Amino acid sequence: MNTVLEVKNLRKSFEDEQVLHDITFKVDEGEFIAIMGQSGSGKSTLLYSISGMDSPTSGNVLLCGKDISRLDDKDMSEIRLKQMGFVFQHSYLLKNLSIRDNIVLPGFKAGTLSREEINQNADELMKKTGIYAVGSHDIKQVSGGELQRTAICRALINHPDILFGDEPTGSLNSSTTKEVMDIINSVNREGTTVIIVTHDAKVATRASRVIYLMDGNIHAELALGSYEDDEQSKAWREKIVSEWLQKQGF
Ligand SMILES: Nc1ncnc2c1ncn2[C@@H]1O[C@H](COP(=O)(O)OP(=O)(O)O)[C@@H](O)[C@H]1O
Ligand SMILES: [Mg+2]
Repeated sequence: MNTVLEVKNLRKSFEDEQVLHDITFKVDEGEFIAIMGQSGSGKSTLLYSISGMDSPTSGNVLLCGKDISRLDDKDMSEIRLKQMGFVFQHSYLLKNLSIRDNIVLPGFKAGTLSREEINQNADELMKKTGIYAVGSHDIKQVSGGELQRTAICRALINHPDILFGDEPTGSLNSSTTKEVMDIINSVNREGTTVIIVTHDAKVATRASRVIYLMDGNIHAELALGSYEDDEQSKAWREKIVSEWLQKQGF
């Protein structure tokens, strides 16, 4: 298996507070990692430090073998645009653009795909996520679930190596959470590596591996294997994850 991301002895401090202590882990192509832990354990800080939104205080982050931990802003933004996709708790879409224009914009910004490829990829993504019919709508005319689907399509327009998410279902109700997670699972099944932070045990059951942070250290890991959408395996995963989380004191 190809290693997509390698994190070596990552530390992160703010002023005199050390938030991440000595984080080391690898992510293979096609994995789906869920990062869990109590509020304040350093989940978002870890996600930002491995995705170039913030720089580690020390240690290394290798994306497809290339060290990205000490790049300048310009090189890092380019990598973020071309090789990474991001989904947050809020969709952060541009108000004055349609759903479709929000999705294609990073495609044109990156300039790696032709106009035709970008449009075709947008159509495919919108069909797959069930928002094709609302493509011309204003972002104020669609539901919260549709906004988050739009954010996912936008994150995938440049075929990123990794899709990152910080609480991507954090402001969704349980049925919309299920729909969005079904989409993320299907994107992952088609080969995109996924790394998300969540405090929702049910969302973590979708991952192939769960990493539990405690006070800025990796405290435990749980390997679950690929997600399968049948009742028996879902029930098994929920049981395993909830017992494991309980053991971590979550
Ligand atoms: N920009 C920052 N400046 C100072 N302290 C920060 C900053 N970001 C996070 N922290 C601190 O780092 C710790 C971990 O925060 P965070 O990574 O947001 O945790 P989580 O996402 O697990 O809730 C907290 O104590 C928080 O106050
Ligand atoms: Mg957080």
